Amino acid sequence: MTQEINWLERINETAAFIKERVGKMPKTAIILGTGLGNLVEHIDIETIVPYEEIPNFPVSTVEGHSGRLIFGNLGNKYVMAMQGRFHYYEGYTMKENTFPVRVMKAIGVKTLFVSNAAGGMNPNFKIGDLMIITDHINLFPDHPLRGKNYSELGPRFPGMVDAYSPRLIAKCREIAKANDIRVVDGVYVGTQGPTFETPAEYRYFWRIGGDAVGMSTVPEVIVANHTGIEVFGMSVITDIGAEGVVEEASHEEVQKAAAKAEPIMSFLIKEIINQFEEL
Ligand code: HPA
Repeated sequence: MTQEINWLERINETAAFIKERVGKMPKTAIILGTGLGNLVEHIDIETIVPYEEIPNFPVSTVEGHSGRLIFGNLGNKYVMAMQGRFHYYEGYTMKENTFPVRVMKAIGVKTLFVSNAAGGMNPNFKIGDLMIITDHINLFPDHPLRGKNYSELGPRFPGMVDAYSPRLIAKCREIAKANDIRVVDGVYVGTQGPTFETPAEYRYFWRIGGDAVGMSTVPEVIVANHTGIEVFGMSVITDIGAEGVVEEASHEEVQKAAAKAEPIMSFLIKEIINQFEEL
């Protein structure tokens, strides 16, 4: 076993830094996925903290992912947004890439919105569709809760039945319907990447019950649930891996397709947050 890091100390050190630096703490956080960083345009920004300045924070490495924490008002709510997330394929451990979620909990965040770009296996999906994540399948080769469990952070064997908050899902559907926005439901398969799928892999993920596949989100959602943070997740379908129609995308195409759908996703997230008093 490798030398055990004292995660509690690290989390508390980082949380103390953020409280000191930012002052006002949010109850709601948003993680912005590939191509979806423009959601911050909808935030009336009060404070920006670049990841490099945050003690113990990993630094994002992938093109198109700027790394900074944004604090400000989204509609009528004070929120924080992570512009740029940490992926397993970049080489971080699962503990490292979920570290920001631990820090969110330590500064008082109660609800987390996660977004990502994903490839769609469901034959009814179209490029640009917004998918409410109703559940996930964890196919990462490591687990963020492996190793010592800190009971201060959560239980050894956390349940994952309502990993995606039913009330937030219901609210999203209601808002989409009222505004004539097409949203689809789906199960997100989380894989390590960085390769996109072969046709046989897309077929396999569809057969095991997945509707879309991507390289993020699952670790953060596991950690959020472990530590008692309510989660809402949304995927933008940026390419299609359905039987007989594999429309393979480059990273640039994924970013472009996500950016196109971003304003609608941002509208939905903002409305959900604004319609619950306590968020
Ligand atoms: N596969 C995995 N990750 C992705 C995809 C995909 O097809 N599209 C966007 N992220």
